[in-house]
Amino acid sequence: MATINQNYLKLPGSYLFSEVARRAAAYAQANPEKRLIKLGIGDATRPLPSVVLKAMHDAVDEMGHLDTFKGYGPEQGYDFLRNAISEHDYHARGVSIAPDEIFVSDGAKSDCGNIGDIFGLNNVVAVCDPVYPVYVDTNAMAGRAGDYSEELGKWSKLYYMPCVAENGFTPAIPNCKVDIIYLCFPNNPTGAVITREQLKPWVDYANENGAVILYDSAYEAFIVDDDIPHTIYEIEGAKTCAIEFRSYSKTAGFTGTRCAYTVVPKELERDGGNLNFLWNRRQCTKFNGVPYIVQKGAAAIYSEQGQKEIKEVIAYYQQNAKVIRSGLTEAGLSVFGGVNSPYVWCKTPGGMDSWSFFDQLLHEANVVTTPGSGFGPSGQGYLRMTAFGDADATKEAVERVKKILQ
Ligand code: MLT
Repeated sequence: MATINQNYLKLPGSYLFSEVARRAAAYAQANPEKRLIKLGIGDATRPLPSVVLKAMHDAVDEMGHLDTFKGYGPEQGYDFLRNAISEHDYHARGVSIAPDEIFVSDGAKSDCGNIGDIFGLNNVVAVCDPVYPVYVDTNAMAGRAGDYSEELGKWSKLYYMPCVAENGFTPAIPNCKVDIIYLCFPNNPTGAVITREQLKPWVDYANENGAVILYDSAYEAFIVDDDIPHTIYEIEGAKTCAIEFRSYSKTAGFTGTRCAYTVVPKELERDGGNLNFLWNRRQCTKFNGVPYIVQKGAAAIYSEQGQKEIKEVIAYYQQNAKVIRSGLTEAGLSVFGGVNSPYVWCKTPGGMDSWSFFDQLLHEANVVTTPGSGFGPSGQGYLRMTAFGDADATKEAVERVKKILQ
């Protein structure tokens, strides 16, 4: 008889965003006359920039001609995109990342989940609490997280770093030895950021302890403050301890189109292995690369017109974040994030638990949000709203929430 990966049986019933979608769909089905506004999952709503469309149309035409047709592409991504990333996302910021340190993929979610393949099962993994659930669930699937306690909402072998209002939602450096550290800044879900000065001790800790930082920088395009690093490689020493994940999902509306990349510096060595080599080996075996058409679309973002168009889209979402921040503040809630980030994190009123407030907003305001407790025990008593919605719908959602809280 085939046996299964028993670790899957230890996972909580469903993935957070699936549960949110399930509750919203059940409510919508039972109340078809209600118009739900979705500020739950961070999913882009603005259409693709026109330069991206044009590049993708042209690429489709190429695929239809004998002399320009493309079969399998390089597993790591086409040179035209890797060169553009190296130049625009790194060189232009004074950071040197070579094209062969960049691996183009179908999403930061996949890469954050798959990166565990190249690490041993006995590593101690540190995660922020609250945290993007993919980091936790994928380590649990691999058997690195131990057992789950429903009561504590925690895995026995993970090292949790509470991120709460008292520490400005930035974790404290572990006071023991951990091996793999997930950091996400600007943070999902809290919207918190980390300055260069605050990030440097993490890099030092990782280099001193032989740890690896898995740095999720998917929301860097939302940074407005000058002292916030856009990439961990702005910090001296990061190339010997950090892997970085980036995505076009939130930057250029690629949530449905799928394109992202991961940087694994060639200098990064652990336990007798070179991580760039290992990740390349993993990708070549398990991944056949991102479609040419999609990579052409992603590369178009780096043109002058592409930059202009994506800045407009980011500004649109930033304005939504402002609307949510100020509306919730007026409603008397304590509000965090939403400045260098598309996520607004707020305290529930009157000490209500997260799912109860989620349900109240769903049933009474017909607004879909994400309960903070779904991101970890320290998220209990918080709620997340995303700025990725339509501007008018966002304004209306905020008005509805204000009304029921009055
Ligand atoms: C979120 O809402 O946290 C994100 O959209 C999830 C993701 O990017 O996978």
